[in-house]
Parts: sequence; structure tokens; C-alpha cells
Amino acid sequence: MRGILLAGGNGTRLRPLTQVLSKQLLPVYDKPMVYYALSVLMLANIRDVLVISSGAHIGLLRALLGDGARVGMNITYAEQAKPNGIAEAFLIGADHIGDDNVALILGDNFFYGDNFSATLRTEAADVDGCVLFGHKVTDPERYGVAEVDQDGRLLTIEEKPLRPRSNLAVTGLYFYDNKVVDIAKNIQVSARGELEISDVNQVYVEQGRARLVTLGRGFAWLDTGTRDSLLQASQYVQMMEQRQGLRIACIEEIALRMGFIDLAACERLAVEFGNSDYGNYLRTVTADLA
Ligand code: G1P
Repeated sequence: MRGILLAGGNGTRLRPLTQVLSKQLLPVYDKPMVYYALSVLMLANIRDVLVISSGAHIGLLRALLGDGARVGMNITYAEQAKPNGIAEAFLIGADHIGDDNVALILGDNFFYGDNFSATLRTEAADVDGCVLFGHKVTDPERYGVAEVDQDGRLLTIEEKPLRPRSNLAVTGLYFYDNKVVDIAKNIQVSARGELEISDVNQVYVEQGRARLVTLGRGFAWLDTGTRDSLLQASQYVQMMEQRQGLRIACIEEIALRMGFIDLAACERLAVEFGNSDYGNYLRTVTADLA
């Protein structure tokens, strides 16, 4: 399965934080935001990732993540010239996807919960149509909203509806079969001038080939789109990491545990981080596994 990490948008709601930096590079506690999304793809066992961003921001994203080799991945970059919508990712990424299935993640989404890695790997291994991930929220009108019947079957998906039919938001992580490229080519630009991911998903729903995995009440799907939610996400990571002594979305550790790199490579990465807390943490991880 191929991965696409969409790190577009102008981050207008977070200015001046996003005046010169892409939102996906802002810190969520101890790491750049994009680490969290990248780590989700890694945990789904995806090693080939296309990062899509605006021309202004690709340079720094590339400076941060490089070609991915240091964490045993293959990371490439493409530009989304204008914010034409999330579904444009499949047109920009058509060559990258090739004949494969694809996982798309939005670079500002934060997922954390017990068993999530296992869920990701199970779902990624069985994509017939599309797999969406839903989470209950109090403000569904801000998101794609899913309506499910009593048996949990998906009935409709609506993008930012004024009158949401449920509290079930569709999160920014999507698994698709290869048909998604053709489907994206055929959807129309919405009233707000975008190729909507919800319109792609609605096609799968109509074909009866969309599944929604509900992330339950013990799961954290956090927003990072406003100054308060960004700070709260940081505080959440701080609290979890300090309590457990385990780091969330430490991509070097994940690369090691997923077998993308070996112990010696991870030890070298720890050296790169010098005497920072992050470097010290990586040293404890490698020492534990040595
Ligand atoms: C996008 C999608 C929306 C989804 C959300 C998840 O919204 O259009 O369906 O629920 O991401 O983060 P945006 O963040 O672009 O407003």
C-alpha cells in the first residue's frame, strides 16, 4: 500500500504562527506535527510516502523528512499549487499510487489509542473499496459527517453540513483501493471550489463499498487547527509521555520496532539528536532492545 501525506493549506486560522511556517511543522509538544501523521502511515506498514504541500512549504518539509532513508522509508514530494481540495491528492499522486492501494492522511490529524497499530494493519490488509475512520465529536458541523444505520452500515457522508445527521465525524485517515484515482478524476468541484474528499467517499458509499471503523470512546482523535486545540494536543502528549515514559509518534523508534531499520541504524539516529531529551529517549529504546 502506498501512502500520501497531505500537508497543504495556508493555516490561516493559526496566523501569525503560520505566517512563514506550514501548520504541519508547528510543534505538538516535543515534535513537529507532521511526525504524528507520518507515524500513523508507518504503523500501517507503509514505507512509500508522497508528501504533498504548497510550493512555499515543501522546502522545509523536505529538510525535515528528507528522502526517508534514515527511517527506512522512501519519501517523495509533490506540490499542490492551489488549495483545490483534499481529493486533488489522488490526481497529483496518481503516478505514486500506480496500481496499488493507497492510504491518505491529513498532516494535521492526531490519532492515539490502545491497539491502534493492530487496527491499522488489519484494515490496511483488507481494503475492498474504502475504509474510513469515524470518531464521535461535539462539533460535527466542522467535519465530514457519516450517517450509519443500526447495523453500522454507512448511509451518507456530508462535508461540513449545517445540520449534521449524526455526531460521527470522518477523521482525516482514509484507505482506498486503486479505483480512487478514477473516482477522484470524475467528481465535480464543490460550491466552495474544492474537490471534496467527502464526494469521493460518497461514491464508495453509493457503490456499497465503504466501511467505517469507529474509533471508540477510549480513543483520542484531536484537533490541531486552532490555537487552543493545538495547545491542548501538546498538553495531551506531554501528559501521556510523562506518565508512561513512552513517546508518541517517535518516528525513529517506530522505524526500529516496525523493522524498517536495524538497531545499529537507530543508535546512529540517537547520536544525531545529541544530548536532547529526544536523543536520550532513543538511547533508552535501543538499550532496551539491545
Ligand atoms: C477535512 C475533511 C473533512 C474531515 C477533516 C478531518 O476537513 O474535508 O471531511 O472530517 O478534514 O480532519 P478540513 O480540515 O480540510 O476542513
